[in-house]
Amino acid sequence: MVDVLGLGLGLTLVLIVVALHYSEGTEWRAPDDISQEVLERRAETVPETDFPEPMNRSIGGGGGAVAVGGGGAEGELEGDDEEESGFDPAAISDDEVEYYDVEFANEGETIEVANNETLLDAGEDEGWDLPYACRQGQCLSCGGKVQDGDATEYVRHSNNETLAEDEVEKGYVLTCTAYPTDDFTLETNETP
Ligand code: FES
Repeated sequence: MVDVLGLGLGLTLVLIVVALHYSEGTEWRAPDDISQEVLERRAETVPETDFPEPMNRSIGGGGGAVAVGGGGAEGELEGDDEEESGFDPAAISDDEVEYYDVEFANEGETIEVANNETLLDAGEDEGWDLPYACRQGQCLSCGGKVQDGDATEYVRHSNNETLAEDEVEKGYVLTCTAYPTDDFTLETNETP
């Protein structure tokens, strides 16, 4: 009698375990792997940059951090560009045009130069064979010197990618991108 009861209990337990096994085992499904989707969404939030560095469009935390840093650096560079590119002579309207007496010491003449005309152009209009190469403020070929000192008091550059600040303060100018802001004497063919 005891054996039959034990056998019944054992059998019931086995049936319960088997039933549980099948009921859970067949219902369980592995969750979808959404990591790629999450990474792509994060990548969409990374701003576009013009920087060529690898990683700046990388997916994931490290790449995102680099790209954000790169964006900041780009902003700073744009600021520097604006500073260096100086003023835009084309923005001077007709009634804002002013003329200054510039004595070209080596050529032995004083001419009027407008504040929207480069020293180089004005000299060439006189027929003088003045030195130049790029005509964009990117070399030193057109270099000249303000005789009276600090060039920042007599000219402004639309672009200067060559002369250092202290060289301009010593009087050096790039005649191809220098526009007069006052009367002065210029020595052409002078470089630091
Ligand atoms: S010609 Fe090159 S800077 Fe003037």
